[in-house]
Amino acid sequence: MRQICSVIAVMMIFVVSGGSAVAEGPGDPTAVKKEDDGKWLDKDGNPTYKISADGTVDWFTYSGYRRYHSDCHVCHGPDGMGSTYAPALRDSVKSMSYGDFLGVVASGRKNISAAQENVMPAFGDNPNVACYMDDLYVYLRARSTDALGRQRPAKKEEKTEAYTQAEDACMGKK
Ligand code: HEC
Repeated sequence: MRQICSVIAVMMIFVVSGGSAVAEGPGDPTAVKKEDDGKWLDKDGNPTYKISADGTVDWFTYSGYRRYHSDCHVCHGPDGMGSTYAPALRDSVKSMSYGDFLGVVASGRKNISAAQENVMPAFGDNPNVACYMDDLYVYLRARSTDALGRQRPAKKEEKTEAYTQAEDACMGKK
């Protein structure tokens, strides 16, 4: 009987939280910790943006802006706003976890329920995307809260030495 009760309790929590079909968003985007490579993390340890009062953005936000507009905007529209073909990623990241974001970008996805077949390509083997996953995520997170508007960031932090080293290693350079 005790066991049944706890099963019911677990099921109720499941229902209240909306079940597993409703993905959880990343929560509070406030930056609390900076890594050596210039990446800011939120209280849960997920990558986030840091934009100063004068508009200076962290390096990842700036880099993500550039990567997004070279590899994603053709389908997802400029500034993460979406298109008739692919969803607005500034909205997607509100309800997606960081892990889910990485999974979709690396492995791709096919929408077979749509009348038109919309395909999200897998970018896991493309270093121009795979080496910049956090940059893309941080940029889109800044767009999701409107911390960054629909413009090219005017001022940015400098790229750090640690970032350059990690980037070169990922891209296969010496
Ligand atoms: C060739 C067009 C195309 C390109 C390029 C593309 N995507 Fe997509 N993407 C799509 C489509 C279409 C979907 C929706 C697939 C579905 O409905 O299952 C999608 C879905 C996604 C999703 C899931 C969104 C959600 O609301 O569930 C994420 C995250 C995503 N793309 C990220 C990216 C990123 C980051 C890039 C750039 C590196 C990128 N995509 C480039 C077509 C594209």
